[in-house]
Amino acid sequence: MSRQLSVIGTGVIGNGWIARALARGWDVVAFDPAPEAPARTRAFVDNAWPSLERLGLAEGASPARLTFVDSLEAAVAGADLIQENVPERLALKREILAALDTAAEAEVIIGSSTSGFKPSDLQQDCAKAPGRVIVAHPFNPVYLLPLVELVGGEATASEQTERARGLYQALEMRPLVVRREIEGHIADRLMEALWREALHLVNDGVATTEEVDAAVVYGCGLRWSLMGTFLTFHLAGGDAGMRHMLEQFGPALKLPWTKLEAPELTEELIDKVVEGCEYQAAGRPVSELDRRRDDFLVELLDLVQKYWPEAEGLEGRI
Ligand SMILES: NC(=O)c1ccc[n+]([C@@H]2O[C@H](COP(=O)([O-])OP(=O)(O)OC[C@H]3O[C@@H](n4cnc5c(N)ncnc54)[C@H](O)[C@@H]3O)[C@@H](O)[C@H]2O)c1
Repeated sequence: MSRQLSVIGTGVIGNGWIARALARGWDVVAFDPAPEAPARTRAFVDNAWPSLERLGLAEGASPARLTFVDSLEAAVAGADLIQENVPERLALKREILAALDTAAEAEVIIGSSTSGFKPSDLQQDCAKAPGRVIVAHPFNPVYLLPLVELVGGEATASEQTERARGLYQALEMRPLVVRREIEGHIADRLMEALWREALHLVNDGVATTEEVDAAVVYGCGLRWSLMGTFLTFHLAGGDAGMRHMLEQFGPALKLPWTKLEAPELTEELIDKVVEGCEYQAAGRPVSELDRRRDDFLVELLDLVQKYWPEAEGLEGRI
């Protein structure tokens, strides 16, 4: 029996969820108040579909199984899973999640794509079944990147997180259940740290946006796609592994290499960063860059599977 994903908010991330669920053979019902939303989503799915075909579609998968409706209440009727993707503003998220909680059957999981908010803050105004409102944080492009961080709030029972895990696995994702709620979860904390330092390097005139990107693409980024920061540094210690690495490079951690506090986003810095990215894009529209990135990611996912086949589950040891 086919399942239904209800998608609330169809911007970059909502559309990514839609493309993923359609490719897995789910029905999708979507709601977004923007008049251009349905046409924008259909163009988005068309752009993503060739990569999804290469990855392999589920039986019966079709872009035709998407329906747009004109209210949030209509969107959640019959849902197996609800995914909220409205703009990252706490008051708006709370309002929408409270309305979804009222409208949806009490046992249906409501995942929020929020990049930074804690689930307990999102559950605040939900009167009916607050525990089923959890963070389910994906990564762009959602239809190709497998990771989803699942974070339960104060009202969430472990049974609800477990049920959520099963649903996201059915969407062929790799759920990472975050043990404790913190702003920014796990991955955004890491990405934000790198992003702040990158902005400082541009702001201080040390490097252009292109040079910072080259440092990632031809250096650390290549290894990160197979091994994360810990295992990568374990190898950097030679045969003695992480212990030697920490002895050798540990003292540098105390040197003031990194600033960690974000630079002021002055007009000058914004212009530098925007002009840098436009130079790098060289007139290619984002949709063209999306397709190039997608082709690359499809092959990269195969490579990760080939070279690290034993990394099946994400559940680590305590
Ligand atoms: N962009 C990313 O890389 C990224 C990655 C992971 C998570 N997220 C999270 O996903 C969420 C959405 O981000 P985005 O980048 O897709 O934003 P976006 O601005 O591209 O899309 C937001 C969409 O929400 C719609 N919307 C506004 N009010 C609404 C309402 N009342 N009901 C329904 N829809 C409404 C807008 O019309 C728009 O289509 C945010 O919480 C963000 O933190 C973003």
